[in-house]
Amino acid sequence: MDHGIVKLAPSILSADFACLGKQVSEAEQAGADRIHVDVMDGHFVPNLSMGAPIVQSLRRVTRLPLEIHLMISDPDFFLDEFVEAGSDSFLVHWEGNANLHRTVQRIKTLGKRAGVVINPATPAAVLEELLSDVDQVLVMTVNPGFGHQPFIHSTLPKIRRVRQMIVESERRCDLEVDGGIDARTAPLVVDAGANVLVAGTAVFGEGEAVAAAMDRLRASLKQPGTQSQHVA
Ligand code: DX5
Ligand code: ZN
Repeated sequence: MDHGIVKLAPSILSADFACLGKQVSEAEQAGADRIHVDVMDGHFVPNLSMGAPIVQSLRRVTRLPLEIHLMISDPDFFLDEFVEAGSDSFLVHWEGNANLHRTVQRIKTLGKRAGVVINPATPAAVLEELLSDVDQVLVMTVNPGFGHQPFIHSTLPKIRRVRQMIVESERRCDLEVDGGIDARTAPLVVDAGANVLVAGTAVFGEGEAVAAAMDRLRASLKQPGTQSQHVA
């Protein structure tokens, strides 16, 4: 796997749940690299979304890696059922987890990829003691809980700092961003060092075909004046 290529992770939060399997298949055919599943408990974030049964259903319709973004208060309690449902990786928040290292180790013991997420108000520095243990970092570019929120531009310097930390660590670690990613903001985050883009509204929520929406996102990365599809 080449970590130098920008990857797209469509978030099904903005999909039409009446035809979820079809929409995910379309995203796979259009070259999605993984499917992003947002799990919310109405407590860690002020919204409810979905649980392991959705993952189990999706596992039957796609071969793409299913990455689970856990916006829930006690992620450790739910890891086993998400693994049984067919999950491939977990993104767990730094915020509110007093034993984050243990959570990361449990994910790895289960044989899955582990990523740590930081909210817009959380500084990059909290990653210092974690980088050597994780496969990816997710920098939230909106406050978690809802799709279709505006991109927070003040997260760009933090994305640059995290990229720098990853380079210095000499580890192969994905730098993912999530929230408000569209054809305008994608070039900005890639220029700052992101190599995995989560996109919900921009892929499923604009009323156009999934393939056309993904093409538009990819095309935005090739515009003159923006960085190419490769990052350091
Ligand atoms: C927000 C979720 C996101 C969400 C992004 O809390 O973590 O993954 O689906 O949606 P857009 O791309 O619409 O901002
Ligand atoms: Zn997410």
